[in-house]
Amino acid sequence: MFEMIKEVAAFLQSKGITSPDTGIVLGTGLGKLVSEIDIEVAIDYADIPNFPVSTVESHKGHLIYGNLEGHKVLAMQGRFHIYEGYSLQQVTMPIRAMKLLGVKWLLLSNAAGAINKTYQKGDLMLLDDHINLLPENPLTGKNIDELGPRFPDMSCPYSPELNHKMQLAAEKFNITLHKGVYAVVAGPNLETRAEYRYLGMIGADVVGMSTAPEVIVANHMGLPCAAVSVVTDLCDPDNLVPAVLADILETAGKAEIKLIRLFKEVIRGL
Ligand code: HPA
Repeated sequence: MFEMIKEVAAFLQSKGITSPDTGIVLGTGLGKLVSEIDIEVAIDYADIPNFPVSTVESHKGHLIYGNLEGHKVLAMQGRFHIYEGYSLQQVTMPIRAMKLLGVKWLLLSNAAGAINKTYQKGDLMLLDDHINLLPENPLTGKNIDELGPRFPDMSCPYSPELNHKMQLAAEKFNITLHKGVYAVVAGPNLETRAEYRYLGMIGADVVGMSTAPEVIVANHMGLPCAAVSVVTDLCDPDNLVPAVLADILETAGKAEIKLIRLFKEVIRGL
């Protein structure tokens, strides 16, 4: 596995991705930040050896390298999910390659359903913590000692420094930014009413199908990260309406402007 990750990093370096300092992962319907980047290199995932290929239509599969707010950023426009059939080692491989390329900070975004009844569609939530309900773990198997320890600590998975910067940015732009707990499920089906009720009982504020595996490998490598959920649907078990992908994408698209503001401001201050 480590050889594969090194090969990916070496390939990307050969394409001119030489000194990224900030990694960005853009979730479902949240790819437009890319249009703010002064792009130097753009590569289709399909053209990167050893890279999984995104199979979700709403996720564009591009790796984008360029300048944003005075930083060299490496952005994933579209990510990989366990529901596509990938192992979590594959899902998280790009994050590990980012670290080998020199990335010092990681910002992630995702679309999520709100369990917390005070949240509204289009709201943003800063991840304070997560609950991993996936059937696998990206660190299963022989530990890659070159990347991190066998038993990585998870007492503080989201960087307090980055989270503070996110909150300051939200205040500056008058953006509502909740802070809460993200539960990750495998999907691809959305949850039943009983499952939403259960997620609320165990302490989740939102639920989605990504992010936590990437955050686990980032913590393994000592890479500080922050993540923001965009609330795309409301998961009140007593008033549940069927979730429609088109609506989820539309909501994500509208809220994206706020996410772009936050990410740009945080990157500017790094
Ligand atoms: N559940 C799981 N994942 C999601 C949801 C949801 O309600 N909304 C967006 N991603």
